[in-house]
Amino acid sequence: MLQGKNVLVTGAASGIGRATAIRFAAEGAKVTIGDRNEAGLHETAAMMASVPVIQFYDAVDTASCRRLVEVAAADGLDVVCNISGILKWGRSEDFPVEDFALVMQVNTNSVFAIVQAALPHLIKSRGNVISTASAAGLIGIPYTVAYAASKHAVVGLTKSLAIEFAAVGVRFNAIAPGQVNTPMTQATAFPEGIDYSLLMRNAPKLLDGSCESSDIADLFAFLASDKARKITGAIFSIDGGQIAG
Ligand SMILES: NC(=O)c1ccc[n+]([C@@H]2O[C@H](COP(=O)([O-])OP(=O)(O)OC[C@H]3O[C@@H](n4cnc5c(N)ncnc54)[C@H](O)[C@@H]3O)[C@@H](O)[C@H]2O)c1
Repeated sequence: MLQGKNVLVTGAASGIGRATAIRFAAEGAKVTIGDRNEAGLHETAAMMASVPVIQFYDAVDTASCRRLVEVAAADGLDVVCNISGILKWGRSEDFPVEDFALVMQVNTNSVFAIVQAALPHLIKSRGNVISTASAAGLIGIPYTVAYAASKHAVVGLTKSLAIEFAAVGVRFNAIAPGQVNTPMTQATAFPEGIDYSLLMRNAPKLLDGSCESSDIADLFAFLASDKARKITGAIFSIDGGQIAG
């Protein structure tokens, strides 16, 4: 489905990004994997069906975001999967403003920097971008206001870019996962003194509703492929019914 396509996957040292890199390589894509965790990138590479280009980058450094794209596009670029992200919990009364800015930088600003650098290549290839939003990009989630703001921004960015570049055939979509079993969620330590009932009202409803990373990777692969050639500006929930009601 993705044979010979040049694909950039960020966040590929762990979780959803790792599963997506493995999936794209299995589909015959030529994959560049980027992350700030170099050791994790090498572990991912060892799990892939073909040898990827490995590029360290740090999403807080715009120059390194641009360099990542330059490396990934050395031989053209067809697909960008924006998957790097961070999650921080905290009561909004004492959530550090500096952490708010950091979450926005990693989850939103760096996505824009990567997309902007990739645009000339994607226009040439009539390529597409799939970014990672979240259930928290579609509904408010208490005690993680920065994260929710950053993921709502990914939704806005995706829809706006889809319109701006539709006429030149570049597609932009986003995936909005709910609870996925990854190191990010396994490491979650909720702050003291919160109202858990506010969090639990958006728990997965489906039997075994939590997703695995491979479930999300399947959706990345579909949206990147020509089977999704008529899909742009769309936000796909994959959340076991978390935001259904
Ligand atoms: N796990 C979930 O339940 C869930 C739900 C919805 C959305 N998401 C989103 O999915 C994406 C992947 O999350 P995951 O669950 O696989 O988490 P993860 O922690 O397993 O992976 C995130 C990756 O991003 C990388 N990263 C973080 N900061 C970076 C930086 N400054 N520069 C470069 N790389 C950086 C990390 O090194 C890591 O490899 C994130 O955008 C996350 O917000 C996750």
